[in-house]
Amino acid sequence: MIKPDATQKGYSGAILDQIIKAGFSVKAMKWTRLTKEQAGLFYEVHKERPFYGELVDFMSSGPIVAAILEKENAVADFRKLIGATNPAQAEDGTIRKLYAASVGENAVHGSDSDENAAIEGDFFFSKLERF
Ligand code: CMP
Repeated sequence: MIKPDATQKGYSGAILDQIIKAGFSVKAMKWTRLTKEQAGLFYEVHKERPFYGELVDFMSSGPIVAAILEKENAVADFRKLIGATNPAQAEDGTIRKLYAASVGENAVHGSDSDENAAIEGDFFFSKLERF
């Protein structure tokens, strides 16, 4: 997912270009905006964290790009491409180093396992929206 900070700063095109040049293929994609309720559900696993309210407010504050990406070792390779959650700790050249402002407004989200990738893909896309 490309988050509201990055879509609003006009970084979506550059981020997608970097993702595709890194060898990912797009199976599904949409430009949409989450309601607070939807953002709360998407990040339900973080419900007990102190930053949950802030995260939900931010993730529903503007449009996002949701995508299902395919590649060998996609989860691990995507996490490498986007860099550490906190952009201050992200390696040079990673998407978060280039485009993220803070740990909260960190430009992109990547699934942390194949299992969660399937759950998160189902959150956004029906079977008819995947190619
Ligand atoms: P993401 O990969 O989308 O998964 C959970 C998100 O919670 C994470 O990226 C951050 O944007 C956010 N997050 C993690 N830690 C903090 C924090 N300390 N303050 C605000 N947001 C956070």
